[in-house]
Amino acid sequence: MFKNEIILKMKNYFADDQKRIDHALNVTNYAEKLIKHCNKEINEEVIIYAAILHDIGIHEAERKYNSTAGKYQELEGPPIAKKILNDFPITQKLISEICEIIAHHHSPGVINTINFKILYDADCLVNLPEEYNYKENKDKLDQIIDKLYLTECGSSLARKLFLGEQRK
Ligand SMILES: [Fe+2]
Repeated sequence: MFKNEIILKMKNYFADDQKRIDHALNVTNYAEKLIKHCNKEINEEVIIYAAILHDIGIHEAERKYNSTAGKYQELEGPPIAKKILNDFPITQKLISEICEIIAHHHSPGVINTINFKILYDADCLVNLPEEYNYKENKDKLDQIIDKLYLTECGSSLARKLFLGEQRK
């Protein structure tokens, strides 16, 4: 596993953009938690590398299109991620799976692998409290959690974090 090495590459790439670095690290932490609670067959390396690099296209999206919209990040991320991952002895099969996940990480439903779903849910665990005032909307939040998360471990962790429910 080249987790620390790839984190270093991500930090170097984002340079003084501490907000993006923190986001990538938070998503990676949640991905690790979900991996621990997931009883399905997953590829930990794919999920962790995808988590570290999932938003790596955001600077190029801003530079080229003056936008951080998901579709531009999805477009710009994979070639940068591939370049970073090619510096490590990681198979092309894994690299293309990671790049596919990055290319669709704002578009649930296109890729339906458990590796994709865990990365997607980890991103939502970080984004939900930033995008939604969950303390004032607990009833609605219950429905949102049901709709948003793609894995049972994702929605159960969201319920624990945002609704204070005991984890099953
Ligand atoms: Fe993200």
